[in-house]
Amino acid sequence: MSADKSIAIVRDKKNPDRLLMMMLAARGGYISGEEISRKFGVSRSAIWKQVNHLREMGYEMESSTRLGYRIFKSPDLLFPEEIWSKAELSFLGDRIYYYSTIGSTNSEAKRLAQEGASHGTLIIAEEQTRGKGRMGRVWTSPRGTGIWVSIVLKPQIMPSEAPKLTMLTAVAVTEAITEKIGISAGIKWPNDVLIDGKKVCGILTEMSAETDVVNYVVIGTGINVNNDIFPDEIKDTAISLKIAAGNAVDRIQILAGFLERLEYHYKTAMARGFEPVLNEWRKLCCNLGKPVEIVTRDGSFTGIAEDIDEQGALIVKKTDGKFERVLSGDVSLKYRR
Ligand code: BTN
Repeated sequence: MSADKSIAIVRDKKNPDRLLMMMLAARGGYISGEEISRKFGVSRSAIWKQVNHLREMGYEMESSTRLGYRIFKSPDLLFPEEIWSKAELSFLGDRIYYYSTIGSTNSEAKRLAQEGASHGTLIIAEEQTRGKGRMGRVWTSPRGTGIWVSIVLKPQIMPSEAPKLTMLTAVAVTEAITEKIGISAGIKWPNDVLIDGKKVCGILTEMSAETDVVNYVVIGTGINVNNDIFPDEIKDTAISLKIAAGNAVDRIQILAGFLERLEYHYKTAMARGFEPVLNEWRKLCCNLGKPVEIVTRDGSFTGIAEDIDEQGALIVKKTDGKFERVLSGDVSLKYRR
């Protein structure tokens, strides 16, 4: 395997690249050749081969006859072992599909889910060539700049509850941003994460379901982390964490934080219902109590975004005083002044 464009890795947490896990756990410190030999029961020359393999992956390794080996620079790639070594997770990411380039992680996740991929499987890419956004839009996903990840979940919920998983995901992203880089982010209904009124993250949830059973849900999350520029169509409405923070941001740190928050809220929701996370969502939402314009396929209307109901639908008090319940499906929300 080399750090070129064609890498595709499938890894199970129970069967990782053990040398890489060990080197990452040392956090830049040396591990002696003797210790590696002892732990893995392999010869010095076998270690040398594995170290060279890490070099091919893009890790800059120092080797010293006296001290052993150490990683002195990591390649800023979202390898499965990087995730496992930085995130405390109990089921999310037990299996990870890592791609250097892919059309869309959501499309790949659906294909894998159809073939039986298990609950919690992650599909991650450094670059998407056909990234999908909501309402048939394109999601710009340049190489190595953002987090383009899809998560396969098999929740025991009614299909009508799936939008709440998207809202849960928005809460997890927002919390991870604040926790890891101390920048305050907010949520625009139903699930855009904004910084300074500009979009830093979008979520596309796709589902396969019968009348009252969810077969699987794919939650696709795109976080703009180190993007410097955006295409003309979105340059006034999009932002990256790098632009917001004024310096490059560690993608692994954000991804690890996001997955930890997601797993926490997911487990809570499955045990106690969605109310706790919907309350967090309400606190983080920047629309509630504000004037909005709802744009549907058949036209638009304006009003005040009053609240969300227990299904996650937005309750809008229209200018004529009547209340409208808006489902997230194919609508977009615009701010009104
Ligand atoms: C939106 O329009 O706001 C949703 C954007 C979702 C983008 C993510 S990136 C990972 C996953 N794969 C895709 O093709 N789309 C989602």
